[in-house]
Amino acid sequence: MRKVRKAVIPVAGLGTRFLPATKSMPKEMLTIVDRPVIQYAVDEALEAGIDHIIFVTGRNKEAIEDYFDIQPELNDTLRRAGKSKQLAELDKLQLPPGAVSLTRQQSPDGLGHAVWCARDLVGHEPFAVLLPDMVSHGRRGCLAGAMDLYAETGGNVISVEECDPAQTHKYGIVGKGRAVGTGFEVTEMVEKPEPAVAPSNSYINGRYILQPEIFALLGNQQRGAGNEIQLTDAMHRLMEVQKFYAAPFDGRMFDCGSKDGFIQANVAFALARADIRDLVLEPITEMVMAKEIRSNAA
Ligand code: UTP
Repeated sequence: MRKVRKAVIPVAGLGTRFLPATKSMPKEMLTIVDRPVIQYAVDEALEAGIDHIIFVTGRNKEAIEDYFDIQPELNDTLRRAGKSKQLAELDKLQLPPGAVSLTRQQSPDGLGHAVWCARDLVGHEPFAVLLPDMVSHGRRGCLAGAMDLYAETGGNVISVEECDPAQTHKYGIVGKGRAVGTGFEVTEMVEKPEPAVAPSNSYINGRYILQPEIFALLGNQQRGAGNEIQLTDAMHRLMEVQKFYAAPFDGRMFDCGSKDGFIQANVAFALARADIRDLVLEPITEMVMAKEIRSNAA
């Protein structure tokens, strides 16, 4: 079985749900506590054994490229100021030379199109895709669990999580087949089904391990929902000839592409950090209880 070494992280979307903030900064650089959203995706990929990250960027996303580069002036300033702790932290996050590649999606024509833009950088090998605005919170990152299942099954693996059965119309839902290892075989994928017809309440939560044959399908694909090239449409076609397995995630994914998910993630990550927890727990609890704050809601 071929090892999964590369991860594609698409970051070319416009982030319109976060306007006006995203007018001049990528939504992937919004911070959860003190790290940009994109750092969580990269950490998760490295934890899962990935050694090469491919960003699919677009216009106005240069901040992401700079973030993953060394900043010699900043390092010198920190050194002169004796800020060795901060310097060590930056050092720890630095990716090895040559471990990051970038390509551009010239116009945001959809997630499937963004993944297709990475085809030459991926080459003919299985690869992971991480949607960075889905931020994984748990004992282990979400992709690590998908990799465990992949080691048993090969093929294509998608990570799933259970949603409220009344909310299936908001998600891509999978049908459950026979149990395999830590997961199950996927029998179908349905985009946003009404609860009455949904095959399950397991939704696709933004982590994929795909075989390179997906690129040929993406390359000759018609536009789908939203007039965009959809990854799900290509996965449907790949499912006709290759197996798909689902890896249930035992943590929780926050949708940081939405305002509510982003704010919840900030609270959850702050509460999980020993250095911040006590500073925020009491004030947040007080704010939630305070009538005047709620009644000031615009
Ligand atoms: P989203 O649909 O959540 O991101 O795509 P968006 O389009 O930027 O957000 P809104 O709806 O306008 O607020 C999920 C991921 O896929 C990337 C996005 O950057 C995000 O990380 N993406 C999406 C692309 O790279 N290219 C696209 O054409 C679409």
